[in-house]
Amino acid sequence: MTFKQEIARRRTFGIISHPDAGKTTLTEKLLLFGGAIQEAGAVKNNKIKKSATSDFMEIERQRGISVATSVLAFIYKNKKINILDTPGHKDFAEDTFRTLTAVDSVIVVIDVAKGVEEQTVKLVEVCRMRKIPMLVFINKMDREGQDAFDLLDELEQKLGLSVTPLSFPIGMGYDFKGIYNIFEKNINLFSGDSKKNIEQTIAFDDVTNPELDKIIGNKAATELRDNLELVWGVYPEFDKELYLKGDQQPVFFGSALNNFGVRELLDCFIQIAPPPRSKHAEERLVEANEKEMTGFVFKIHANMDPKHRDRLAFIKIVSGTFERNKPYLHVRQGKNLKFSSPNAFFAEKKEIVDISYPGDIVGLHDTGNFKIGDTLTEGEILHYKGIPSFSPEHFRYINNADPMKSKQLNKGIDQLMDEGVAQLFTLELNGRKVIGTVGALQFEVIQYRLEHEYGAKCSYENFNVYKACWVGNENRKTEEFKEFERVKQKFLAKDKRGQLVFLADSQFSLQMTQQKYPLVKLHFTSEFE
Ligand code: G4P
Repeated sequence: MTFKQEIARRRTFGIISHPDAGKTTLTEKLLLFGGAIQEAGAVKNNKIKKSATSDFMEIERQRGISVATSVLAFIYKNKKINILDTPGHKDFAEDTFRTLTAVDSVIVVIDVAKGVEEQTVKLVEVCRMRKIPMLVFINKMDREGQDAFDLLDELEQKLGLSVTPLSFPIGMGYDFKGIYNIFEKNINLFSGDSKKNIEQTIAFDDVTNPELDKIIGNKAATELRDNLELVWGVYPEFDKELYLKGDQQPVFFGSALNNFGVRELLDCFIQIAPPPRSKHAEERLVEANEKEMTGFVFKIHANMDPKHRDRLAFIKIVSGTFERNKPYLHVRQGKNLKFSSPNAFFAEKKEIVDISYPGDIVGLHDTGNFKIGDTLTEGEILHYKGIPSFSPEHFRYINNADPMKSKQLNKGIDQLMDEGVAQLFTLELNGRKVIGTVGALQFEVIQYRLEHEYGAKCSYENFNVYKACWVGNENRKTEEFKEFERVKQKFLAKDKRGQLVFLADSQFSLQMTQQKYPLVKLHFTSEFE
């Protein structure tokens, strides 16, 4: 296969949903179609059901051993599919945001009964802002849920999507009879048999055909005809270009648990979803079919085995081919690195590969060279744009609880922050360290990992912060700015990259500060012009 063909056959995507909508189940069924696993239940359940640290640590430990769950790859109809794992738990939302920098498209899973939920709103917003093509899968049609049209409305209103159904349910819950596939023009009858892999479909170009009444009954046939008329009257026709530009989102209905409607989704997906897309670096736009290798780190996975403290850095290949034992420039460090055992992922295993193509994810063993967002090239100075940091929601001072181990503690904090577990702020006034996280669970995770991986002990102390605001660089020399620095000294800190941050202790004080010092520009994300 030529380089161009290899690129054209790759589909790298993520599945996003609110926890429990069916992401894990859908992933598993997709893998079954790819022949990557033989039976249901084979995908490690890496969900966090409870907010218990022990639960989380157990999962992380298992994942450390079988890190391949971060990327699940398989071949289906000669397409190389890479599914990137995105944690659904809200405390790990940042991890998911970062993974979204490495996908070329996404599938959004919605629970038919619960509709659009909180996490879906946040994740879809990021995808919408980045113009990532999205397909929607409305799951659990075997259960009673909301009316299909109401759900489509909700997708438009709450998620700001422009939807067009490519399949439509016939009944629901107890009366669920199947699906009319608008994309393929056929009917798929539901039998509720989850072991069945390939469903029987009946071609139906024309739903006015009276045969339809014989197959699904008079009442259901009339209802389906009425519904489809409404669909065709109300929703625009599917337009692949709009979908690829992120301006239209096709919707499928089905039941992942029953493996129903999943093949339709997958078959449509491989036809319409984009192959590896070009990517913006700060310097220029990089095309996937350029000869020279470029790629960036979007995730770092710690090895939970304390005997091997190495980590796995996940690189998304943007252009060119990544080859084993070839030197690549680590742009931030300005040094060349060679990798003798790059890992590729297949189904649930990882294996050493000689060559990888754009769209692929390569896992590199790392002893501390990489940070999230680092770029590798063949010599060109390029910086890929990542996802900005958002203000954390919880803040605590972190103290050293074992003075003999301060070196270990600092190293541990440093590395965990490189992995993107949390954000670190160092107070200007006294150099004290403050950890900011999205969820309270991370504090326990950090404490546990510092102890088990670095042999360091920490304790926390409450620190009341409402929001972290990044301070713009303009007007630094003005009297107003200097006064702001003087008066607010107690609340100023540097983030890990050395950017100045104002830690507002309440909404009121934030507003007052903005009013009093209009020349000081405060930003709610770390990336601003
Ligand atoms: P997640 O990864 O998005 O968090 O969700 P997951 O796939 O684990 O699914 C959440 C629950 O919903 C699971 O039940 C799963 O079996 C169920 N589910 C998924 N798809 C369907 C579907 O199409 N129909 C119905 N009726 N249920 C579905 P659970 O009881 O939480 O877990 P388990 O004990 O069954 O694994």
